[in-house]
Amino acid sequence: MRSLFKTIGALVPILISITTSLSASAESSFLRDVAPILLKRCAGCHGERVHLGGYRVDTFQSLLLKGASGEKSIVPGKPDDSRLFQLITAKVEAVRMPKSDDQLAPEQIAIIRAWIAGGAKFDGASVSVPIKSLLGPRRHPAAPVVYRTASPIMALAFLPDGREIAVGGYNEITIWNAASGKLIRRIEHLPQRIQSLSLSKDGKTALIGGGTPGEYGEASLIDLASGKRTKVLDTFNDIVLSAVFSPDGRHIAVGGADMSVRLYDFESGKRVWMSSIHSDWVTAVSFSPDGHFVASASKDMTVKVFEAADGSLFTTYNGHNRQIGKYMGQNPVYSLIFEPGAQFACSAGGGNWIQLWSPIEAKADSGDAGDMEERFAKQGHTRYIEHGFKKGVFALNVRGNNIFAASADGILKEFDLSSQKLIRTYPGKSDWLFSLSVDDSGDQIAAGSYSGEIRIWDTKSGRLIIMFFAQPGRSQRQVPGISTLTRQN
Ligand code: HEC
Repeated sequence: MRSLFKTIGALVPILISITTSLSASAESSFLRDVAPILLKRCAGCHGERVHLGGYRVDTFQSLLLKGASGEKSIVPGKPDDSRLFQLITAKVEAVRMPKSDDQLAPEQIAIIRAWIAGGAKFDGASVSVPIKSLLGPRRHPAAPVVYRTASPIMALAFLPDGREIAVGGYNEITIWNAASGKLIRRIEHLPQRIQSLSLSKDGKTALIGGGTPGEYGEASLIDLASGKRTKVLDTFNDIVLSAVFSPDGRHIAVGGADMSVRLYDFESGKRVWMSSIHSDWVTAVSFSPDGHFVASASKDMTVKVFEAADGSLFTTYNGHNRQIGKYMGQNPVYSLIFEPGAQFACSAGGGNWIQLWSPIEAKADSGDAGDMEERFAKQGHTRYIEHGFKKGVFALNVRGNNIFAASADGILKEFDLSSQKLIRTYPGKSDWLFSLSVDDSGDQIAAGSYSGEIRIWDTKSGRLIIMFFAQPGRSQRQVPGISTLTRQN
């Protein structure tokens, strides 16, 4: 039945492309039809940073200007006199645009022709801002029926009763039976990669963050019952890496590869504030248990702490970048979590430690400019868990007094927050572990790996309950070298 739907589904894009090319000859919208082609196929060489041939297509204004040749790039009403059109239709491959790449598809050329012929009209708000910023949320394609290659599991979350687990896939979220490893449902037409997945307090809404690296990011709300994307909170110039609810469920914080941290009101979906003070990817965001602070971890080796109310910077935690002393190291921060059980922030990434610290004491530690020397020498109030992994820690989760850490070693460990001692190393080793979720009862923990593998353990006994590949269409039994679906008892 599903394959029948899929066959019908596969026809839809063809029908759409026929209708768009028909309507294109009548009227082509710049933002809807033309801009996506230019951004995808031309902006890499004709963008803000690189402008080969002295030509840019990143703003509407720049698109109309002449390039190095001095010829008019676009002559409204006359495609054949427009340099741009001449170049995308050039017979000689060496001069054709996009240079050293496949020619645009006939329907894309038809769209551009129709748009220039129709007067090269602009339907955006401003000709001088990046075209990217004028485009609304993308419509995403269906997910692949069968996954030919594994999709790294960057995000996963148990549904409220702990019997099902939602997993970030390719253009979709897949929902699996946590006891049998069977695929239950697919929620498609989502961003290409899902980097972050969390549930609202009532368990009815999923908050996702993701996108396409270097191109597009999105933070959206999905109604789990209907599988509909009910609200796109925002779109970004680059992929979103982390999106979380505040403890009272009223706010949402988002961070990603565009280096920004943003806060939204859940009810209205409106953005409350935005900060761009990180100098590299924001890898994780988290609210303090009282909802007072939003903290953001970054590849820039810092964790910034903001006042959730207005986004003003409260302090910067520099504990992952120490030039001297016992805890020396200069490390990117990949994971960060506050939890009701832990009245402090837990952060980790590169380096040998999970660091436990409080924003208020971190501010006091940072002192004033006068005591620089002394400040660098002292270790401050931070408590350190020596985790013993050889590679980076990409996911942390806290339950009560326990902290779980998953690393690129492919191993999951559990530590005691008060004593900072190792409680247990969970059995099994996989590819890089990127994501963790503990169910509401705290009895099960799941980890997702780069190779698409999910392992679920019993947190009381440490026993591995199940391992399966969250890869629709993959036969779980045909995995060379690994016995999957290991159900123990
Ligand atoms: C791989 C890099 C690359 C890509 C992708 C690319 N171009 Fe070019 N483009 C160039 C270079 C280099 C030149 C300079 C002329 C040359 O070397 O052929 C150029 C020149 C041009 C010019 C002429 C500017 C002038 O001198 O007046 C136009 C117009 C143009 N490109 C449009 C496009 C469009 C439209 C696309 C996408 C459909 C595109 N280009 C994609 C590299 C690229």
